[in-house]
Amino acid sequence: MYRAIYDTALVHTNPEAAHHAAMIAIGAAGNVEPTRRSLAATIGRRGPTVTNPRLLVFPRPFPGVPGLAAGMDKNATAVLGMDALGFGFVEVGTVTALAQPGNEAPRLWRHPDMEGLRNRMGFNNDGARVVGERLRRLRSSPQGRAVVVGANIGKSRATPLEDAAADYATSTRHLARWADYIVVNVSSPNTPGLRALQDAEALAPILRTVREEATRATGREVPLLVKIAPDLTDEQVVEVAELARAERLAGVAATNTTIAHDLGPGGLSGAPLRERVLEVVGILRRALGSRGVIMASGGIFAAEHGRAFLDSGADLLTAYTAFVYEGPSWPGRMNRVLG
Ligand SMILES: Cc1cc2nc3c(=O)[nH]c(=O)nc-3n(C[C@H](O)[C@H](O)[C@H](O)COP(=O)(O)O)c2cc1C
Repeated sequence: MYRAIYDTALVHTNPEAAHHAAMIAIGAAGNVEPTRRSLAATIGRRGPTVTNPRLLVFPRPFPGVPGLAAGMDKNATAVLGMDALGFGFVEVGTVTALAQPGNEAPRLWRHPDMEGLRNRMGFNNDGARVVGERLRRLRSSPQGRAVVVGANIGKSRATPLEDAAADYATSTRHLARWADYIVVNVSSPNTPGLRALQDAEALAPILRTVREEATRATGREVPLLVKIAPDLTDEQVVEVAELARAERLAGVAATNTTIAHDLGPGGLSGAPLRERVLEVVGILRRALGSRGVIMASGGIFAAEHGRAFLDSGADLLTAYTAFVYEGPSWPGRMNRVLG
């Protein structure tokens, strides 16, 4: 039903305006208790809690394998609504130390023929202090405390690359206390130079700084993941896995959007990513061995896609593009099938 409405009507709307309208609606639905409850009991109904020993690095069990990928709820305004729709967890962000407007519009395009989206948003977000305060308020209610929330952090555009570690540390200080895990995003194609931070020499000091800051801010070990691009070579993927082991990361998030396309500016998400992400997940699992969580994203639309990622070695899945194309009943449906 939603897909028919999408294909005939929604596809003609401005993509960013549609995004804002959806976020307001989902945010409002989550904040009105009877609506939240009825959504959670109907379309958002989930399967049983996930039992996977690798996930014991996280502070508590995941209520589902498929979660909301970073980039949709950048400012943590719709966490309860996303949870009510049946996502197993919600990754907010990317959040940067400094609030920033992102790139000028247009910066989001649909490619429905290939089940893809293309974006050059450029980390538009309210900044770590404001998002941290929003998460603090979320965590002050029992419903808000119950949601598994990840905080995805990136570098502010105004911060030079050589000061990246301090920028990530500032975000960590504001967010770590309220997060079940932190993702260090060094793979967005829309912040100049950011992807150079995937290089082990640049990445190691950032990961160390974030880990120390997270422990200082919370008094506990906060599970840390690094999010990589699908455009790394196989050798570079192995290097990241080795670094993840050496730095005792909880795991790796694979992958962000790809720049390997000729459709125009920005990174491409959705179905065109699927094949490469499947390969990257396999490479990571072989390099990581039996330890280390892999959180996979890239074109997961159907249960069979999710299963293929899990069979290749992923432990958790996140999605953005399928949620846009398939609509509000998609997270619960996937969660009931995949657990
Ligand atoms: C419009 C848009 C904005 C995104 N913003 C972010 C972001 O801020 N941080 C991030 O780590 N990933 C971001 N992503 C990437 C997604 O989190 C995800 O890794 C990628 O889209 C692949 O998953 P998908 O095919 O299910 O969309 C964004 C993706 C889209 C489509």
